Amino acid sequence: MNFSRYTDQVVLVTGGAQGLGRAMAERFASEGALVHVADLNESAAADVVAADATGRLSCSTLDIADPVAARGWIDGIADRHGRLDVMVNCAGIIRDNRIENISVDDWHAVIAVSLSGTFYCTQAAFAHMKERGYGRVLSFSSMSWRGNFGQANYVAAKAGVVGFTRGFALEGARHGVTANAIAPGLIDTPMLASMNGPARDKLIGKVPMRSVGEPADIAAAATFLCSREAGYITGVVLDVDGGIGIGSSIR
Ligand SMILES: NC(=O)c1ccc[n+]([C@@H]2O[C@H](COP(=O)([O-])OP(=O)(O)OC[C@H]3O[C@@H](n4cnc5c(N)ncnc54)[C@H](O)[C@@H]3O)[C@@H](O)[C@H]2O)c1
Repeated sequence: MNFSRYTDQVVLVTGGAQGLGRAMAERFASEGALVHVADLNESAAADVVAADATGRLSCSTLDIADPVAARGWIDGIADRHGRLDVMVNCAGIIRDNRIENISVDDWHAVIAVSLSGTFYCTQAAFAHMKERGYGRVLSFSSMSWRGNFGQANYVAAKAGVVGFTRGFALEGARHGVTANAIAPGLIDTPMLASMNGPARDKLIGKVPMRSVGEPADIAAAATFLCSREAGYITGVVLDVDGGIGIGSSIR
């Protein structure tokens, strides 16, 4: 891929050391963006930089559930470049369990990364985007936001991302800032591999397209939603899921 849609744009991706975040970071860089990744996993982040052939990708080790650290990372990059065009809130975790077994810690951990982290990064990014009257915020929900067995904490976080995106979209609109979300279905990443095997296999059996998706499918959607040409799209939740979100499917 070698478009130049993002030439000179500054793009931030949380959770970009592996999986969907990595695929997006690499795709944005291949399209000309200066991409900064934040991730907890230092060695995986170093691998991303080592594998980068564009010279436009860099990584920081950061916990986005820490509001002070998240703001410091974003302010530092925006101040250095004098701009911030795209904020991708991708970092997320799962701590699946039936409701009676979800610990208070696992409840808070999932909300802290997926929902609070999205808020912290969006709030900090918006301040810079507003100054220039341009910005794209893309956050990660999940097909699970409508409900999924054994994931009540994750469902709450991902439904929260949808609500947050819609609420923020109304505020960003008058400043040239769009806010959208992607709700991936089952995409082949380390997170999917870590899910409970039988539950995962059951879900895969329900995908109308009969296969899991690839991180590149998400990167393609993300680079469209964050592009200049998508400027009249805001408050949208885009299912990228092989049709599983449609509902009942006869196999
Ligand atoms: N893969 C799927 O099938 C799928 C489906 C629906 C939704 N999603 C969502 O898409 C996003 C990416 O998923 P993935 O499959 O690539 O996950 P993944 O687990 O493969 O990668 C997530 C990355 O986020 C990082 N991370 C976790 N907590 C962090 C924190 N506090 N601060 C900074 N970085 C942190 C991890 O180190 C990891 O590199 C997540 O929000 C996930 O909930 C994924």
